[in-house]
Amino acid sequence: MESTINHKILICLGSSCHSRGNAENLKVIQDFLKDRKIDSQIDFRGHLCNEMCKRGPVIEIDEIEYEGVTQSNLPSILSNHFN
Ligand code: FES
Repeated sequence: MESTINHKILICLGSSCHSRGNAENLKVIQDFLKDRKIDSQIDFRGHLCNEMCKRGPVIEIDEIEYEGVTQSNLPSILSNHFN
């Protein structure tokens, strides 16, 4: 079956965002996508610091930017976006 890329997730892996939560958030996103079996539909990639460290950890989903993303609020962000 052919899969189509429908969504894009960008996670900041710059040192500030990475050390303040995106290292764990990366795994939360990977697990969420696998559990929902939608990993093949998502263009999921990391990027370097884009000077928004003060508002980090930063994650962007389909051009919506989420700031201060933690392991506590990330599951609801993902559930709301991919409902
Ligand atoms: S490290 Fe993420 S915005 Fe700077």
